[in-house]
Amino acid sequence: MIFIKKFVTEPRTIGSVTPSSPQLVDSMLCNVDWKRAARIAELGAGTGVMTRAIIDRMAPGSELLVFEIEKELRDMLSRETGLEIYDDARRLPEVMSARGIDKADLIVSSLPFTVLPREVTGAVVDGISRCLAPDGIFVAFQYSLHMKGAFEKIFGNVDVRFVMMNIPPAFVYECRGAAAPGRPVYFGAHFQNK
Ligand SMILES: C[S@@+](CC[C@H](N)C(=O)[O-])C[C@H]1O[C@@H](n2cnc3c(N)ncnc32)[C@H](O)[C@@H]1O
Repeated sequence: MIFIKKFVTEPRTIGSVTPSSPQLVDSMLCNVDWKRAARIAELGAGTGVMTRAIIDRMAPGSELLVFEIEKELRDMLSRETGLEIYDDARRLPEVMSARGIDKADLIVSSLPFTVLPREVTGAVVDGISRCLAPDGIFVAFQYSLHMKGAFEKIFGNVDVRFVMMNIPPAFVYECRGAAAPGRPVYFGAHFQNK
């Protein structure tokens, strides 16, 4: 109910009318090597379906930074998990640096990149490309293929799969191999070259 209520008031921020299905959560996390994912960030936690699955899978001693912009959801998730939940995903580089974390091994995003304001998407994607370890993995879901070209400009390898069992059906993007410095990062209608 809280998710639907938030969707009605903030549709461009929430981006979806229901939390992710178990099938979508599994598809997002199925190829992660949890033994090697010691430093993890989750962007756009919502009611915490992805957060709980990450916590269940992560190895002891691993560190998880969670971001959620909506205060009510943030407070709820913080009470439930005992974690500090950060607000804007644009703050990923700043929060990592404050926590003494150089690079992330795994970044999981549920952010609705194509409906967020362009400058927010640009800043978050820029932060991800700077914070992901060279051998790290970035997984995101979207309801369209619009981000494929942008991600292919940034990451060496982008795999996309379709998950039918979700409302609405979704595409999972699995990205590896961060861009070399100086390489054009953004392009097209959404982004400018860096
Ligand atoms: C599509 S929902 C996904 C929620 C949940 N992870 C799931 O899979 O069901 C996207 C979430 O991203 C949050 N969000 C949007 N913009 C954000 C931002 N700039 N920083 C952090 N969270 C953001 C929204 O409030 C919303 O809870």
